[in-house]
Amino acid sequence: MGRPRPYFFSFLAAGLVFCTAITNLPDEAAMDGLKKELQGVEWSNQEPNYCTWFGVTCNPWDLSVEALELPRRGLKGNVSLVSELKSIKRLDLSGNLFHGPIPLHGNLSLAALEFLDLSANKFGGFIPSSLGNLRLLQSLNLSNNLLIGEIPAELKNLESLQEFQISGNNLNGSIPEWIGGLSGLKVFSAYENHLFGEIPQNLGKNSQLELLNLHSNQLEGVIPESIFSSGKLEVLVLTLNKLTGSIPEPVGNCKSLSNLRIGNNNLAGSVPTSIGNISSLTYFEANNNHLSGELPVEFAGCSNLTLLNLASNELSGFVPIELGDLENLQEFIVADNSLTGEVPRSLLKCRNLSKLDLSSNRFNGSLPENICSTSRLQFLLLGQNSIGGEIPQVIGDCARLLELQLGGNYLTGQIPPDIGRIKNLQIALNLSFNRLHGSLPQELGKLDKLVSLDVSNNQLSGTIPSEFKGMLSIIEVNFSNNELTGPVPAFFPFQKSPPSSFLGNKDLCGDPLSISCTSYYDAEYQNNHHKTSYKIVLAVIGSGLAVFITVSIVVVLFMIRERQAMKSKSFEVSAEEIPVASPLVITGKVFIHSLKQAVDFDSVVKETMKDSNKLNNGTFSTSYKAIMPSGLVLSVKKLKSVDRTVVHHQNKMIRELERLGNLSHPYLLRPIGYVIYEDVALLLHPYILNGTLAQLLHGSSKEEYLPDWPRRLSISIGLAEGLGFLHHVAIIHLDISSSNVFLDAHYNALLGEIEISKLLDPMKGTASISAVAGSFGYIPPEYAYTMQVTAPGNVYSFGVVLLEILTTRLPVDEVFGEGLDLVKWVHDAPGRGETPVQIMDARLSTFSFAWRKQMLAVLKVAMLCTDTAPTKRPKMKKVVEMLLEV
Ligand SMILES: *[C@@H]1O[C@H](CO)[C@@H](O)[C@H](O)[C@H]1NC(C)=O
Ligand SMILES: *[C@@H]1O[C@H](CO)[C@@H](O)[C@H](O)[C@H]1NC(C)=O
Ligand SMILES: *[C@@H]1O[C@H](CO)[C@@H](O)[C@H](O)[C@H]1NC(C)=O
Ligand SMILES: *[C@@H]1O[C@H](CO)[C@@H](O)[C@H](O)[C@H]1NC(C)=O
Ligand SMILES: *[C@@H]1O[C@H](CO)[C@@H](O)[C@H](O)[C@H]1NC(C)=O
Ligand SMILES: *[C@@H]1O[C@H](CO)[C@@H](O)[C@H](O)[C@H]1NC(C)=O
Ligand SMILES: *[C@@H]1O[C@H](CO)[C@@H](O)[C@H](O)[C@H]1NC(C)=O
Ligand SMILES: *[C@@H]1O[C@H](CO)[C@@H](O)[C@H](O)[C@H]1NC(C)=O
Ligand SMILES: *[C@@H]1O[C@H](CO)[C@@H](O)[C@H](O)[C@H]1NC(C)=O
Repeated sequence: MGRPRPYFFSFLAAGLVFCTAITNLPDEAAMDGLKKELQGVEWSNQEPNYCTWFGVTCNPWDLSVEALELPRRGLKGNVSLVSELKSIKRLDLSGNLFHGPIPLHGNLSLAALEFLDLSANKFGGFIPSSLGNLRLLQSLNLSNNLLIGEIPAELKNLESLQEFQISGNNLNGSIPEWIGGLSGLKVFSAYENHLFGEIPQNLGKNSQLELLNLHSNQLEGVIPESIFSSGKLEVLVLTLNKLTGSIPEPVGNCKSLSNLRIGNNNLAGSVPTSIGNISSLTYFEANNNHLSGELPVEFAGCSNLTLLNLASNELSGFVPIELGDLENLQEFIVADNSLTGEVPRSLLKCRNLSKLDLSSNRFNGSLPENICSTSRLQFLLLGQNSIGGEIPQVIGDCARLLELQLGGNYLTGQIPPDIGRIKNLQIALNLSFNRLHGSLPQELGKLDKLVSLDVSNNQLSGTIPSEFKGMLSIIEVNFSNNELTGPVPAFFPFQKSPPSSFLGNKDLCGDPLSISCTSYYDAEYQNNHHKTSYKIVLAVIGSGLAVFITVSIVVVLFMIRERQAMKSKSFEVSAEEIPVASPLVITGKVFIHSLKQAVDFDSVVKETMKDSNKLNNGTFSTSYKAIMPSGLVLSVKKLKSVDRTVVHHQNKMIRELERLGNLSHPYLLRPIGYVIYEDVALLLHPYILNGTLAQLLHGSSKEEYLPDWPRRLSISIGLAEGLGFLHHVAIIHLDISSSNVFLDAHYNALLGEIEISKLLDPMKGTASISAVAGSFGYIPPEYAYTMQVTAPGNVYSFGVVLLEILTTRLPVDEVFGEGLDLVKWVHDAPGRGETPVQIMDARLSTFSFAWRKQMLAVLKVAMLCTDTAPTKRPKMKKVVEMLLEV
């Protein structure tokens, strides 16, 4: 592999041709044909001849094609003409989009081929038997295609073959005997197929096999000794088959074997002691077999051993002290065997140990005092053993611990408050089924990353400390079968747990147990609810300003904005004060034919005169509900402080509006018509039943209804699709915010205010530039410099909406602290030592693992969208893809 490509020669070749002008180019017809057939190849007509085309290497003397290397270029089309390239030695078309049968005839014309890589395409059908004619072939890679059928017998003629890869197909049949006869074979990889039968007993006998990977097939019989006979084996992977027999003793011959993975088979017998001869062994994985006997002390000789996994076997006896010498050991997994004796103190000396899994054995004695001497320990899994004594206080020193499983032992004494010091603990703390007594230490409430807490089936007494409400990440709790008393603290994850999590105690009360408590409980519940409700204060906008990098520009912006707001206010006031009967409608139109009869322009105008009809106040407009005499309900948007130009550019505006009215996309709120009177423009929209996303998320008065996660996710996706579509038709939105996302009767997201971009386009002189910044908190940082709203700017604003959806927080709020808005607050979370889970709405993220997983994935998207650098933000099309993947 890795033969240097003769660039120099191809250069020379090009020169030769240029000088000798009209020479006969041997592969001209084939290459010209290929150029026509290959879709996606960038071969230029400008080049003097094919020898200088990208990916082509020619023989310098006769200018025949020697190598064609076009990996990962998104190519498709008919490549059968490569069979005409008589002198080709290397052909690499891997990682493209070719489909259909493998196109090579493999007859004499390809006789020079030494390297053939067609992997990672969509080639289907059988492996052509004619490939057996490629007598000089050394490397054949057909992996990751859709090939079916058996390995054809004709391939036995490939006597030079050194590397043979057919993994990741749908091949069946058995591995043919002749593969054992290939004397040069170094690499054979056929994993993830449907191969059955036995591994040939001569495999590797005559060759220097270095890599054999046959995992995930249905192979039976024994592991042949022959594969170890040359002693050159470096990687052996036979996981997930049906192999029987024992691990052959000659495995010890392979001094350079680093990976030995034979888990999930039916292997029996003991682990051969010769294993200790494999000084280079790094991964040894033989879990889920029937291996018996003792854990050989010889493992101590494998000084590079990093992972030892013998879980779910039938091992017995003690863990040898000598294994403590394995300085590189990171994972020691022997769960589900019959091992006994004390928890091996010596192993805790392995400085790199990160996972110690002794669960479901017969370990006895007490927990070692040096339990945390290996500072890297992340998983301490000792559940289902016979360990007694107390939990030592030093457990608090296991600073990196992610999971602590001590359930199902004979532990006594109290739960040490020191466990609260293990701030990283997140996957689980399981102390269930022991003999622990005393009270629950309030310090456990500091475990704010913890997801699962199980203290059930002990003799714990006292109350559940209200400090446990500090477990912000908790999803699963179990306090059952203890002697606990008092109210279950008012904490969402507790109340939403099944009652069984609290049953079997002495005197627990409150939800989710349907046992009512004292008034104390109610008071506390109320209190908790108040804390979570907050309101926008006008001053917030002021603090939000500090967000921007160029404060001065923003201050100016802010002042202009204030002035405009004042202007529009005075306009509205004056309109109300003067009791005009009904102003004269200049013009109006309804684009949708079926609605023409139902809309009355005079009524539209009248309805917008009534303050009680006001729906909301956007950046550019005020919306009103308007009930037509026909009964039709409209939402009418009165453009604010309208530049007279809007009215003066009527024809243009009408054209734009009609165009928008005709845009058909399910997630866009399209105008259905307009009315113009005096110098006021009214835009007509269908009345949207469920208000805006902002109202839904930050709800007015009643906190009762909170949109659940699936609803929020579907709103996010709808919104992304709507915006993606706008970008697709080259429309930039000028004011993306949750107030401009409307929700129909089925809570589908409808992106509104799309017409603003067309009506108030500063480039067309229809609005002052300061008007088009968007809403506070949503304005991309670059706007301070560019004063222009761009597609990446839209992506930023969209990202802010996503963050709002994930956190149920306002984009600008003083709770974030001075100079921080939602985006900064989220991006700075790691700096404050907060996890993603802590910034997301806990009412959703603690609901289930599935919701949390999806929320984390969406958070990632939101982070990308709100990157400070516009160029780093994904395109909306990509955003849609990412959200759909969630
Ligand atoms: C591919 O091209 C070859 C030669 O140009 C032609 O004979 C063959 O029919 C083509 N195959 C298909 C499937 O189009
Ligand atoms: C090469 O194989 C193809 C298809 O099998 C056949 O049509 C062609 O005649 C063969 N060419 C030679 C030179 O054998
Ligand atoms: C296919 O196998 C050959 C030989 O082992 C190897 O050189 C090549 O990198 C493989 N191709 C891919 C895409 O992995
Ligand atoms: C192998 O696969 C081929 C093609 O899918 C099928 O026709 C054949 O019956 C299979 N053979 C066996 C033994 O399963
Ligand atoms: C392999 O290990 C066995 C048992 O530990 C030992 O007797 C033998 O000498 C070793 N063989 C080699 C070649 O080192
Ligand atoms: C152990 O691993 C190191 C680093 O990978 C390597 O250099 C060394 O040769 C290995 N030791 C043995 C005995 O194989
Ligand atoms: C442990 O891990 C560290 C880093 O992961 C590595 O540098 C070191 O060689 C390993 N072995 C020992 C004995 O520390
Ligand atoms: C632990 O088990 C071993 C083997 O069964 C036994 O010899 C030993 O006495 C036990 N130790 C304790 C403390 O029970
Ligand atoms: C805690 O450990 C016990 C004993 O191993 C087990 O039965 C229980 O399912 C575990 N609890 C959780 C929540 O996984």
